[in-house]
Amino acid sequence: MAETGKIITTPDGSRTAHNERFGEAYGSRHGAAAQAHHVFLNGTETNTHPAPRILEIGFGVGVNYRATLRDTAERGVPLEYVAYEFDPAAAEVLKEVAEGGEGADHPAWLELVQKWPASSTDHLSLTAASCIIHFADVLTADLGEEWATAIYLDGFSPTRNPEVWTPEFVGRLAKTLAPGGVLATYSAAGHVRRALEAAGLRVERRPGAPGKRECLRAMKVSGE
Ligand SMILES: C[S@@+](CC[C@H](N)C(=O)[O-])C[C@H]1O[C@@H](n2cnc3c(N)ncnc32)[C@H](O)[C@@H]1O
Repeated sequence: MAETGKIITTPDGSRTAHNERFGEAYGSRHGAAAQAHHVFLNGTETNTHPAPRILEIGFGVGVNYRATLRDTAERGVPLEYVAYEFDPAAAEVLKEVAEGGEGADHPAWLELVQKWPASSTDHLSLTAASCIIHFADVLTADLGEEWATAIYLDGFSPTRNPEVWTPEFVGRLAKTLAPGGVLATYSAAGHVRRALEAAGLRVERRPGAPGKRECLRAMKVSGE
């Protein structure tokens, strides 16, 4: 189980938590839900997609998942969600972060927190929604090819969690994107941008979520 510290209430009223092992918060201290919407949902155009298929790295405390659940439920579109998490936080932490927040009353979230494992298991899959969370190191996972309409690349910072930002791993993520699919990340680091470009994606810098100047989105354009 992940060693988590205090729960953090962010300026938009949403919460995240501190992770002791990496010494960072799971989401933006300047607005956890705002970051989920701006960087990930809107950044990948999942908020307008008729049938999003998402790959998330990593699941963390589920803020991005709840934002995506709520958005797709409100729009009445189907959602397929695959996430990787190698160091799950305790169910109590997921519940406390979510309490009263968006998506927290969605049947899929209620099922998730109820089934969330107390000890090691290799995955969790839901019946209330098409969602599977692999409790595994994504670096050694078989991610498949050309299926994801969106990838939320949401590791801890490239300084503290460098292995999910390497050109090699980003190249594998690019293969997982369907044509027209978009990878989004909160990082705007030059080496991350170059890794995305080297993977053949068309990279755009965008204004960042609160507290960050820029973030990145990278599209798989057919024929490039
Ligand atoms: C910034 S947090 C993600 C926050 C999350 N998306 C949310 O909405 O709460 C990064 C997560 O990636 C996980 N992670 C980091 N490296 C990983 C790896 N190699 N395989 C699987 N999960 C990883 C960490 O354990 C952590 O939970």
